Amino acid sequence: MKTHRRSVLMSALAIALAACSSSPNPGTTGTPSTGTSSNAIPIGIGVAQTSNVALLGQEQVAGAKIAEKYFNDRGGINGTPIKLIFQDTAGDEAGAINAFQTLITQNKVVGIVGPTLSQQAFSASPIADRAKVPVLGPSNTAKGIPQIGDFVARVSAPVSVVAPNSVEAALKINPNIKTVAVFYAQNDAFSKSETEIFQQTVKDKKLNLVTVQKFQTTDTDFQTQATAALNLKPDLIIISGLAADGGNLIRQLRELGYKGTLIGGNGLNTSNVFAVCKQLCDGVLIAQAYNPEQAGEVNKAFRDAYVNQYKKEPPQFSAQAFTGVQVFVEALQAIDKTSKVAQKPLPDLRVALNEQLLKGKYNTPLGEIAFTPEGEIVQNQFYVAQIKMNPDGSDGKFTFLK
Ligand code: ALA
Repeated sequence: MKTHRRSVLMSALAIALAACSSSPNPGTTGTPSTGTSSNAIPIGIGVAQTSNVALLGQEQVAGAKIAEKYFNDRGGINGTPIKLIFQDTAGDEAGAINAFQTLITQNKVVGIVGPTLSQQAFSASPIADRAKVPVLGPSNTAKGIPQIGDFVARVSAPVSVVAPNSVEAALKINPNIKTVAVFYAQNDAFSKSETEIFQQTVKDKKLNLVTVQKFQTTDTDFQTQATAALNLKPDLIIISGLAADGGNLIRQLRELGYKGTLIGGNGLNTSNVFAVCKQLCDGVLIAQAYNPEQAGEVNKAFRDAYVNQYKKEPPQFSAQAFTGVQVFVEALQAIDKTSKVAQKPLPDLRVALNEQLLKGKYNTPLGEIAFTPEGEIVQNQFYVAQIKMNPDGSDGKFTFLK
């Protein structure tokens, strides 16, 4: 029975990954869309294109490539195109370190958008910081990311401002929630950081935290922890993990008969979980740092391009990756107005880029954003969406709550 369940879950994951890899894979170097020339300005994209973390990383590749075309179509850096250079970080720290080193020393990028996980950022971003290469974390939401160093900023709002929104939404939908069980991946820096915020929010709301269960992002069998939690009859379960493990945990909680409210954290914020938990993903609440209906010209162009290519609404991770590229482009444009970017020695350009990007205001798909001097994103609007699956579980969508 156990072996059978495991193989079913593994094949669900295989389907998720296959679905993921059927989207265009950029390989190791991006193909500049327009205006390609040998003087194109190289921007590094170091995200997960393989491993389970590609469930998130592939969405980042998609968003970055839309940004490359969008900005090159509008003249790049005052006439000079940008060129995205992709290096696959895979899912672990070693992969992220390798990708960052290659981007810095071989590809000679002006800055890096990456990595995918906070767990990877704490290892790889200090390398860029020491080399004085600006990094924009596109999805790193753990506490402490901008504090890694002067050259590390992020366009992904931290767990402290995003996560509590989903608990508020759950209480609005069901004011009778009293008891809460929390699950988190103990081998993942982001999940550990996010669960602290969730647990604090539960206490602030005067709810009863009945149990805290731990797992690993590599786990596929959650029977022990799920059974222990369900024996305590929680009204709400909150999961901080990544897409593959989180999706399997949701599925197993429902298979064991859990009928209450479910919240997934930022690591589950992808339609790639649909192939893992299928119909059983239905109803899960996930806080969002992006809404496809965000007003503004840039979001409209981004959304249209994404819908045109992928036939669905753009996800948060794609919007954030687009935003990372946009911040580099607009900061480079600002520098170029006073001193030509193409003529600056690379070390000087990297330092100037880091200084400039922290000063700017940007009208992005995420709304208007800016940065604190430390590199934390200043963003105003957040949302909560609920997963709505088709009755047969073959596909679904995120429905934004009003
Ligand atoms: N938000 C997740 C992280 O920071 C993806 O690792």
